[in-house]
Amino acid sequence: MKASLAAVTAFAATVMGHGFVNNFTTDGKFNQGFLLDYYYQKVNTGSFPAIAAWYAENLDSGFVAPDAYQTADINCHKNSAPGALTATVKAGGSLTFSWGPDAWPHPYGPILGYVAACNGDCTKVVKTNLQWVKIQAEGIDYASQVWASQKLVSQGGKWTLTVPASLKAGNYVFRHEIIALHGANSPNGAQNYPQCFNVAVTGSGTKTLPAGTAGTALYKSNDPGILLNPYTTITNYVIPGPALWTG
Ligand SMILES: *[C@@H]1O[C@H](CO)[C@@H](O)[C@H](O)[C@H]1NC(C)=O
Repeated sequence: MKASLAAVTAFAATVMGHGFVNNFTTDGKFNQGFLLDYYYQKVNTGSFPAIAAWYAENLDSGFVAPDAYQTADINCHKNSAPGALTATVKAGGSLTFSWGPDAWPHPYGPILGYVAACNGDCTKVVKTNLQWVKIQAEGIDYASQVWASQKLVSQGGKWTLTVPASLKAGNYVFRHEIIALHGANSPNGAQNYPQCFNVAVTGSGTKTLPAGTAGTALYKSNDPGILLNPYTTITNYVIPGPALWTG
């Protein structure tokens, strides 16, 4: 039984070509990401390591497609659930995400960052109650035609999100997302890779988040930044999702 599950895992490793956040740092401190092996550990033993990254069943290292934007999966990936721990970062500090297990392969697409208040313990939040506020939105540099995704590739799969310096201390879920657009010229061709992390923000910030957006209201399959031809000179890219809040 164990051997066959290992074989399944090995097979999954050979077909994956996309990715997930393997690990992340909070103000330079290492935190484990949710590894796909943890799913099989959970199936085999009933448990897996306690981490601040969210559990999810993106077992093919895959994505949430536009036809699932109005389902709970868009929040923090497929069948996601809160991590058992909470990492810590200072307001104004940074989270750096490392994508793996292989090099990120998709050079077309924006990278977005969101935060939602837990109003209590993030390890117990109900994902459909989370109200997302966008705090990072990087699309394409018009002069060089370099997408945020390409930047991530040239940064060795690492991406940094800065916590708004004025954000009030408290427990938050941070949502980091790549939207891969290499297939976006066909309906349902964009690929969302959302990843969530429980993070307690410390410091003396004074600002609470503005009203946020439920996951199921973030995107529509025909948004101009979701359904578009990426294989042309881009001069006006409309970043998907709600307005950016900078604190
Ligand atoms: C963190 O993730 C990166 C990207 O997959 C990987 O290369 C690195 O070995 C990981 N570090 C640790 C300590 O797991």
